Amino acid sequence: MTSLTPPPTLSVRVTDSARLLKLKQMFLSKFGSDPKFYVRAPGRVNLIGEHIDYCGYAVLPMAIEQDILAAVEPVKNDVICLANTNPQYLDFTTSTNSIQIDKTKPLWHNYFLCGLKGIQDHFNFNKPTGMNCLVDGTVPPSSGLSSSSALVCCAGLITLTSNGMALSKVELAEACAKSERYIGTEGGGMDQSISFLGEEGTAKLIEFSPLRASDVKLPPGAVFVIANSCVEMNKAATSHFNIRVMECRLATKLIAKRRGLDWKSLSKLGDVQGKLGLSLQEMQAVVEEIFHREPYSVEEICGALGITIDELRATILSQNTQDVSFFKLYQRAKHVYSEAQRVLDFKEVCDEAPADAVQRLGALMSQSHESCKNMYECSCPEVDQLVNTCLQSGAIGSRLTGAGWGGCTVSMVPAGHQDAFIAKVQDAYYKDGSLALLKNNIFATKPASGALVLLEAANN
Ligand code: GLA
Repeated sequence: MTSLTPPPTLSVRVTDSARLLKLKQMFLSKFGSDPKFYVRAPGRVNLIGEHIDYCGYAVLPMAIEQDILAAVEPVKNDVICLANTNPQYLDFTTSTNSIQIDKTKPLWHNYFLCGLKGIQDHFNFNKPTGMNCLVDGTVPPSSGLSSSSALVCCAGLITLTSNGMALSKVELAEACAKSERYIGTEGGGMDQSISFLGEEGTAKLIEFSPLRASDVKLPPGAVFVIANSCVEMNKAATSHFNIRVMECRLATKLIAKRRGLDWKSLSKLGDVQGKLGLSLQEMQAVVEEIFHREPYSVEEICGALGITIDELRATILSQNTQDVSFFKLYQRAKHVYSEAQRVLDFKEVCDEAPADAVQRLGALMSQSHESCKNMYECSCPEVDQLVNTCLQSGAIGSRLTGAGWGGCTVSMVPAGHQDAFIAKVQDAYYKDGSLALLKNNIFATKPASGALVLLEAANN
């Protein structure tokens, strides 16, 4: 299986790629020597399965062409020098003896350090080699296309290569998913998994515990178009994301307690389903039976679990959710179990390819958006407006993609109609003011390959 192999190493002629050539020249003028290798790690678009990876459920993303590309030279001193082609991201230097990740500021270099620490932790080595590294990103930041995880994965593969070590794609994805949590967000493993396991021409069903990926053949009659709402959302800079993770964790514990299970050992909605041996439909009925619609106060949750607020904070809640006083449990659990079912339905339609496949997939995508908007409350007015504009402009289905609260939508459009669709959305959503000036705010996309190492061919 390809996922058990390491990421590929390809030989390239740098002169064949304007981007690589420019990166090489910038590297030379910055560090005074040539890069020894390059690493590319892609962003992703999630077609369906939002906010369920950290509950243990399968998701269905594809890697995109937009990526993080870095030029690297390992060096003998103990210093890591990071630079970025975008002057907005400042240079950063650290000694290999004192790598610190500052959770309070999600600055770009901290994501790099997460990837580096992931490899360090995996091999349990004290001191990684020093390096000079110049990073160039084409994934729009804070847009739900996983620019941060692409950087973490790129840094993980750079560290692995610089230190002469080897890991499979799956091991790399797991190490990077774990280490991205150093930034403070309790993400699942979707973004890192698809960044390593993505393959050109196919979307992937990503399943967890154990991590594995299988091909999902998308119907030939449809094209996927990404549109940016231009509302930026950095999930490490707010507590929205972690509050949702905690709500799912608390819902798990309350269901487990009510059903007489060992609630302390369970923290994912998927695990409690497994223990109860029920279907996703049946779990939705359990949610209806157990939870009330009104938000739960911390006092009510503590009462139900028989613990004090201090215990709740110390053993269940993350650092940035310590002071939250109400949690919505019914809505979040309802979303998770129904969304997990939609992923399975989506995969089944792709596999069976019935005559109305495109209509059925579109309907599932739109239902997913409704659930994200109304039950999970991870959309925002601009994203909702963009979804509506996309549907009115000819999309068969449209939804937010990624963490939400801003960022991008993904729409399914009949093949051959994408240009007319893009023109209509441009006209309706982007025509006014500053948005009109933004480039690449809407584009058709297809499944791209996962992370890889590039070596300059000898004859260059
Ligand atoms: C972010 C996280 C992922 C996933 C999505 C929502 O991208 O990093 O693990 O939870 O949000 O589906």
